[in-house]
Amino acid sequence: MKGLVLAAPLAGISTRPFRVLAIGLGAAMTYTEMISSDGIIRHQKKTRALMEFGPDEQPLGIQLFGSNPEIMGQAATIVREQFHPDLIDLNFGCPVKKVVRKNGGAAVLKDLKLTEDIIRAVVEAAHEIPVTIKIRSGWDETRPVYVEAGRIAEKAGAAAITLHARSRSRGFTGVADWSAIKRLKESINIPVIGNGDIKNPTDAKRMLTETGCDAVMVGRMSIGNPFIFSQINHYLRTGELPAEPSLADKIELALNYVRMMVDQFGEIRGIKKTRRNLVWLMKGFPQAAEMRSRLFQIETFEDFCDLMKNYQKDNIIAME
Ligand SMILES: Cc1cc2nc3c(=O)[nH]c(=O)nc-3n(C[C@H](O)[C@H](O)[C@H](O)COP(=O)(O)O)c2cc1C
Repeated sequence: MKGLVLAAPLAGISTRPFRVLAIGLGAAMTYTEMISSDGIIRHQKKTRALMEFGPDEQPLGIQLFGSNPEIMGQAATIVREQFHPDLIDLNFGCPVKKVVRKNGGAAVLKDLKLTEDIIRAVVEAAHEIPVTIKIRSGWDETRPVYVEAGRIAEKAGAAAITLHARSRSRGFTGVADWSAIKRLKESINIPVIGNGDIKNPTDAKRMLTETGCDAVMVGRMSIGNPFIFSQINHYLRTGELPAEPSLADKIELALNYVRMMVDQFGEIRGIKKTRRNLVWLMKGFPQAAEMRSRLFQIETFEDFCDLMKNYQKDNIIAME
């Protein structure tokens, strides 16, 4: 792994095009979105499509969720034999109802014996492929379990652990408690990846120094600003804050991204799926509000290229 900043798994966002951009911009690792182990063992076509990747997205982890150790072990065998990722990550942090209702995601943390059984089953099935876990600090605020879960993971053979320093009940509210990352790092001997609320390069540096974690992971901030990976790398390497990407850089990235999304998902789906990201990417652009409404009208890649060309012409002329 090159570098200290990982691109977080983000359901609906961590598609192949997004991962290619992230790796190109210096992310040390990318992940698939969380994938149902039930879907994998039933060989569902849609599930399989989520696990396909190329060398330009690597190193890449396939992230699994589920609650049955046997099924998760079988899923890991399929992943190892048919997809060959750089690692298998286990999702013990997802707070979404659809997942926790079936005892997956963060619900696994309510039963640490189950957590251990799942890790052991997957480590055994994964053979040489490292298995990592991604957790929240606990199911709710009353019972933080991250230290216990970390010790269990280490004993059960996990290669590293990512902590999103919030309990499941906090969702995305409040501020992530980075002191939990520090405590976890002090309690175990496998690498700890810190996660939660990194918004800029100085936050990344501060998390590394304050917690002693081995690497950091960036999620939401990368959706609107995939440049954040190179910005953090630059700051960690030189101690200097990087210049903001120019309008031309952002437009080039947007064109590249939409082209890949259209190649991957076809024109209609590709355009539809990119709109949300593009709106975020274009936040802060001159005339962003007008741009946003135009983005929701485009239907083809050609429409998008025209929109960008005209926009760039108008704004570069306006700025001169
Ligand atoms: C839209 C969205 C989708 C997410 N999907 C996943 C997922 O599939 N797997 C996972 O482990 N975490 C998922 N997360 C959580 C992120 O990976 C990350 O832990 C969280 O956003 C905190 O990091 P941040 O403050 O840098 O965003 C998701 C978060 C968001 C906002």
